[in-house]
Amino acid sequence: SPGPTVAALLADAQPGETVTVRGWVRTRRDSKAGLSFVELNDGSCLSNLQLVLPHELKEFESRAAPITTGASLVARGEIVESQGKNQRIELRVDDFAVPGGADPDRYPLQKKRHSFEYLREIAHLRPRSNTFGAVARVRNRLSHAAHEFFQERGFLYAHTPIITTNDCEGAGEVFTVTALNAAKLAEAAAAGDFSRDFFGKHAGLTVSGQLEGEVYATSLGPTYTFGPTFRAENSNTPRHLAEFWMIEPEVPFCDLEGDMDLAEAFVKATLAAVREDCAEDLEFFAQRIDKTLPETLDAVANQEFVRLPYTEAIDLLQNSGQSFEYPAEWGHDLQTEHERFLTETHFKRPVIVHDYPASIKPFYMRMNEPDEQGRETVRAMDVLAPRVGEIVGGSQREEREDVLVSRMKGQGIDPASLWWYVELRTYGSVPHAGFGLGLERLVQLATGMQNVRDVIPFPRTPGHAEF
Ligand code: 4AD
Ligand code: MG
Repeated sequence: SPGPTVAALLADAQPGETVTVRGWVRTRRDSKAGLSFVELNDGSCLSNLQLVLPHELKEFESRAAPITTGASLVARGEIVESQGKNQRIELRVDDFAVPGGADPDRYPLQKKRHSFEYLREIAHLRPRSNTFGAVARVRNRLSHAAHEFFQERGFLYAHTPIITTNDCEGAGEVFTVTALNAAKLAEAAAAGDFSRDFFGKHAGLTVSGQLEGEVYATSLGPTYTFGPTFRAENSNTPRHLAEFWMIEPEVPFCDLEGDMDLAEAFVKATLAAVREDCAEDLEFFAQRIDKTLPETLDAVANQEFVRLPYTEAIDLLQNSGQSFEYPAEWGHDLQTEHERFLTETHFKRPVIVHDYPASIKPFYMRMNEPDEQGRETVRAMDVLAPRVGEIVGGSQREEREDVLVSRMKGQGIDPASLWWYVELRTYGSVPHAGFGLGLERLVQLATGMQNVRDVIPFPRTPGHAEF
């Protein structure tokens, strides 16, 4: 058995218990009084367990020589009350072993604070830092909370494919998947004929599981998918990754209002789970990463999200008296500076902008009647969060076959290429809605971490796919 974790010991070990712990050395200090103090971390929590090693232990000096920062350590001993102010207990060690040392002249993680840029270069070691350990635990809790949220509400977890020939968002950001070598691929692309490639069609990595999610939702009821998605967009920003994890619920017999309710409930519930179970990590983020974090999380938890039609958002931005670099204009996407104004300056809480211009949204969103000025909008919604910006993008889906087909044609999509998707409207069509939430953006909201590269274990961005 692996023995108790440091988290479990710090929470409820009693003096007198004999335990074995396993982990990695954060620091070692030798006192003149014949004792060595080791801070041991095993990843179960932010805190270290203090180990006290008496120098009388057999062959102490030679056996303890490899106990340096970064070394692995197995230690057995008795729990005793700590003399120090910072911890309740410590471990008085009576035997130990060092499975692997870490040459202090070479170990890349020293006790000092390292920059996030530096840590990205050592993605294989950065989870041993306080920040990345805390991010990993919060990310884990959010992922579990996502499943809890949907499972408790009776949603079916459906696995959607990674390899597909459809481009759900129609943005041309699909990574190609091919079995052809570079020359053959160039030939096939030039001829527009992929019939000799592995899938017989131009296949790629999914940008969203939505279309397949709709298949399941319109047969089996509320459904969600949660998996990796890929976008070959310029991801040289603090918010974009080429590979990210998306949570996508899809609900039949549901409209945009129900969809917004679901998104708001989801964000509130998953953040509440983190506040409940990752209190120590959140305190660390509030102290070291973002002083405003508790305030932001309070605003998310205790206030209703604002619901603001896109047209009103544009009016508000235009009359805000702010001088934006890009003035807000009807028919254009909101810029980061606009999102920040709405969520951080004006409303100071999450804002759901809905009913966007049809021209800037994908083919599958349900068309509204034109407004008084004849402008066309769709039943889309984006949840914008303070500091992070868009964390959710969703919509009510176009369930009318004729409208869907004409929207596809209008966007240059051959309806025949998505015949199965169209047939969901031919047979037993229902109003339905769903959304996609980027897990990384939710982790950013929960932790205050500014760069999306620092909330996923192995970030994929232009030029980075090695480790
Ligand atoms: O707004 P998006 O593109 O919506 C869709 O893909 C829909 N098909 C989802 C649906 O309705 N089922 O993406 C949804 C969310 C965004 O709000 C954002 O949180 C995240 O996915 N996202 C990214 N996260 C990190 N890096 C990127 N490059 C991202 N692109 C989108
Ligand atoms: Mg979006």
